[in-house]
This record gives sequence, C-alpha cells and structure tokens, in this order.
Amino acid sequence: MTQTMIGVIGGSGIYDIDGLDGAEWRDVDSPWGAPSDQILTGTLDGVPMAFLPRHGRGHVHSPTTVPYRANIDALKRLGVTDVISVSACGSFREAMAPGDFVVVDQFIDRTFAREKSFFGTGCVAHVSVAHPTCPRLGDACFTAARDAGITIHKGGTYLAMEGPQFSTLAESRMYREHWGADVIGMTNMPEAKLAREAELCYASIAMVTDYDSWHPDHGEVDVTEIIRTLMGNADKGREMVRRLPALLGADRAPCPHGCDRALEFAILTAPE
Ligand code: ADE
Repeated sequence: MTQTMIGVIGGSGIYDIDGLDGAEWRDVDSPWGAPSDQILTGTLDGVPMAFLPRHGRGHVHSPTTVPYRANIDALKRLGVTDVISVSACGSFREAMAPGDFVVVDQFIDRTFAREKSFFGTGCVAHVSVAHPTCPRLGDACFTAARDAGITIHKGGTYLAMEGPQFSTLAESRMYREHWGADVIGMTNMPEAKLAREAELCYASIAMVTDYDSWHPDHGEVDVTEIIRTLMGNADKGREMVRRLPALLGADRAPCPHGCDRALEFAILTAPE
C-alpha cells in the first residue's frame, strides 16, 4: 500500500478548489520549465491533494502554450499518484448536452505544436496509450459526480485540437460523423500521454459547454456562450472533486490497470 495523493488539473473556469485543510499555494520547480502556476496543496477528508490551474490564475496560458511537461512533472514531484483532469469541451452528441459531464476514455490527438514526451534525447521509450485513461479513477469520478446530482456520461472519445480558433463547420461534421468523436477540446493532449509516461493514473472529466458548430439549432460556438455554461459547470466540478477523497481513500493499492508501471517494458535505450 502507498499513500494516495490526488492531483487536480483545473481547466477554464476552475482556478482553485475550496475546503482544503492546510491550504497553501506552493512554488514547484521542474527541469521541464515552470508549471502553469503555483500549486495549491492541502488535505481533504485526510487525503493529500494538489491543485494546478491549467491556464494559470488569470487564464494566461493558451492551450498551445500550457507547459504540459512541467505540469505533469511538478505534480509527480509533489507525490501525486492520481491525476484528475477537468476541462471544458464542445459536444458532438445531442445527448451530451451543455452542463453535462463526460468521463472521457479515448482520445484522437490532432495537436501539432506541443512537446509531447519526456523521452527522446538520451533515453528512448515507447509507452502504450491504447487505453489512455485509468478506469478505476474514471469510475470514482463518475460516482462522485453522480452522487452530486450531476448528469455524467460514462465513456467518450475526446478529439484534442490545437486551436486557438474553434473548428470550421466541415471539420466539426467530419469529427462527428466520420471520426466518431463525442467531444472536442484543446487541452487533454499531450497531458494524458505525459501522465502515462510519468506512470500516473489519469482520468479526464470533460464538462460540456456547447455543441461546437455542427448542431443545426445552435449555430456557431462563441466564448460568451461557453463562459455562461462554464460558471455553472465550475461549481459542479468543484463539488465532484470534494467527494473524491472519500471515495478513493488514503491508502492506495497498485493500479489494477498498470498505469503506475507503464514504463516497465517501454524503455529501449540500454542502461549505461
Ligand atoms: N472548449 C469548449 N468548447 C470547445 C469547442 N467547441 N471546441 C474546442 N474546445 C472547446
């Protein structure tokens, strides 16, 4: 058994979490550069927590400039074992309506202007991301959200786009009709891949803010609409997080899905 430490990466609209005992914003250094912001640490129901606002307080990092490697590394250095990613997304499914949450379990990575790996110079590794999220952690988020009265969907494919512009109508239709994506956002990649390289359990909760641009009754997406929905979603997201420590518990067995051993057979470079 090891000690659980829950790391929460908060997306647009979520810049802190409340109710932490011993709350303190801390500087955490990383050889991969500075993380998006200081990290808020404390305990909730006896479980250590670390919260990092993905875009920084004041929303200063765009999806492209978020320092994904530094963020994951800083959480790992603090002792985080389980990362919950909370982020805004557009929906390609009528049933996944604005205000709903989705436990993402697959990704299509269309980002192209970000550093995507901790490996490559001096040490080469190829980890599997066939199953890029941790089902145990996703299930806990599902239960926490459901118990908080949130409409949450279990399972969904997240298309990660580079941005910062939203998709064209043709792209939106293609992702939805031909690629089978359920939701779209700009931040979960390479975050999920890096979490796997860092042997961290990772769950992604996507909070639907809009129907992107495919929906005939909703027209095109704009930031005003997103912000309106985000405010309600952010409160719900915080409520979900508050319930997680009690569900996950302070003691942690090895991950049944092997997230915490992802590098066991992944490194190709011979030891010196
Ligand atoms: N984040 C929130 N809504 C989005 C959308 N429609 N496309 C990409 N990212 C989003």
